[in-house]
Amino acid sequence: MRSTIFGTGIHVPGEAIDNHRMARIMDTSHEWIVQRTGIEQRYLAGEGVTTSDIAIPAARAALENAGVPAADIDYIVFATMTPDVYFPGSGPFLQRGLGIERTPCLDIRQQCAGFIYGLQVADALIRSGQYRNVLLVGAEVHAGFMTWSAWDVLCGRSDRKVSEEEIARNTRFRDRTVLFGDAAGALVVRGEESSTRGVVDILLYTDGKHAERLITRCGGSAYRPYFRPEMAESGEIVPVVEGREVYKLAVKLMPEVIREILERNDLTLDDVDLVVMHQANLRINEACQQRLGLPDEKVFNNIRRYGNTTAATIPLAFHEAKEQGRVKPGDLVCFVALGSGLNWGAVLYRA
Ligand code: ACO
Repeated sequence: MRSTIFGTGIHVPGEAIDNHRMARIMDTSHEWIVQRTGIEQRYLAGEGVTTSDIAIPAARAALENAGVPAADIDYIVFATMTPDVYFPGSGPFLQRGLGIERTPCLDIRQQCAGFIYGLQVADALIRSGQYRNVLLVGAEVHAGFMTWSAWDVLCGRSDRKVSEEEIARNTRFRDRTVLFGDAAGALVVRGEESSTRGVVDILLYTDGKHAERLITRCGGSAYRPYFRPEMAESGEIVPVVEGREVYKLAVKLMPEVIREILERNDLTLDDVDLVVMHQANLRINEACQQRLGLPDEKVFNNIRRYGNTTAATIPLAFHEAKEQGRVKPGDLVCFVALGSGLNWGAVLYRA
């Protein structure tokens, strides 16, 4: 039994917010953001729009693309670091939104590596023979930790002048808040017997000694109560990003894990048709590409239009790569990601 990606679907909320709009509410510039990150725009969910709200249309699109009715889904894996509520996870809300009942839902918290960890769970469930059709979703609404005012200006609903005080306040954490975008990506992963296509191998790592490099210091048992009112004001609800350390780890560990997974499958980079990396920063991906000596046609990036969408990134990128004809039947695709945990790894997938 091989796990095949039978259908894909995506959903992004609202309208694109470009860097020029960001520069109207905080002290930043299109040039700084593009030069450091490659990001030109991102989408952010409006107030009241939850992670499962954007996951539902993505999942419906994936089901339609696969030609699989929701009722045939026998397991749901939901990867997110921004669930609708503290608990339960977003899976039950998605399940309910799809109009199905009883299907088990597993929420996982692997941040930017959520998709590859989720794919390993889906693959293991399928190969063990327990389940046939697994719905794997990666979705994030990061807007909840953007402690900005002036959303009306940001979203183009108002042309008012933003006060100096607001700009100063919105500029706090600008090194991080400009990086993220909201999105959902979904896959129908299906078990097929004696298939030539499907998941070839998955290699994952976690190194807890780097746990504090990407961390949100609120909302857990380390705090009494979990959330204190002043956490929003002080910015403790905003993730801590040790950007330069993460950058160094990413450009070392992502190429390393690609080489390792290829080697243990007696494959080389020449056998790979497309590498789909997590999209945290275009500069990271360019450095990885250079270290691996990969030509442009073997790498797919879309961070320019979406920013870092955390667990949604790889399903979103894979869906677009497919739509653009960059993935042909028989191609060997390598997914690679690294994120908070520190969790990282690679997947080899035969399309
Ligand atoms: N606009 C304008 N200027 C800015 C901005 C901004 N948005 N952000 C920071 N600056 C300024 C800083 O104030 C600083 O100015 P100074 O030199 O006068 O003090 C200067 O730019 C450099 O700031 P740094 O924070 O040191 O910027 P750096 O070059 O490290 O780039 C970045 C930051 C883009 C985050 C980079 O470190 C990076 O890409 N890291 C890896 C990606 C990453 O960690 N992403 C998060 C992953 S999330 C996850 O896994 C859940």
